[in-house]
Amino acid sequence: MSTILNLAKRRRTIRSFRHDEIDISDVYYALRVAREAPSGANKQPWRFIIVRDQSLKKRIREYCEEVEKEFHSRAPEWLRDWFREMGITWRKPFLENAPILLLVFSDGTAPYNVQSTWLAIGYILLALEERGLATVTYTPSKVRWFNELFKIDKRYVLQTILPIGRAACDICSKQPRLPLDNLILGVY
Ligand SMILES: Cc1cc2nc3c(=O)[nH]c(=O)nc-3n(C[C@H](O)[C@H](O)[C@H](O)COP(=O)(O)O)c2cc1C
Repeated sequence: MSTILNLAKRRRTIRSFRHDEIDISDVYYALRVAREAPSGANKQPWRFIIVRDQSLKKRIREYCEEVEKEFHSRAPEWLRDWFREMGITWRKPFLENAPILLLVFSDGTAPYNVQSTWLAIGYILLALEERGLATVTYTPSKVRWFNELFKIDKRYVLQTILPIGRAACDICSKQPRLPLDNLILGVY
């Protein structure tokens, strides 16, 4: 089995983190990997903010939880059922408990900025896995507040917050995948 396939198979979403510090050089390693991702017209529209400050993490958690309460109250029934099954609520302790938050923005003025940034995010997920670190691609439904908080131009749009740390579970289950045959619509 190739290394990439191993990493991809091993990687799974983690929503609960141990408090131990992590080496920030591992996060920089993931950013160096992200930097190599392809992008529309090579505009490299991904931008990052690293948050380690505990009081800032607390503010982010408080804001996100307010937004989540509203989101959960208007979520469609099927999604609420899935949240229940997964034990996902409006509470987001991982925003405070993970030692590092990596905020990923896209430059909204660049072509295909969202697609390109999410490709880079995919690279980051595998790079973190390679370094033995865990994360969740947390996507708050309201993002403008982050531009005010960090005083950054509104051309930058938050795509995800990646809380990064060590998983707080020994055996963390992986969500099932569809068989490959179901994914291939045709081979000609
Ligand atoms: C675009 C995207 C948005 C996501 N948003 C959230 C989120 O806001 N909160 C969350 O807990 N998980 C989020 N996830 C994680 C998914 O729920 C998770 O990847 C999926 O259930 C498959 O599980 P696995 O990553 O363990 O294989 C998101 C994943 C993606 C790719």
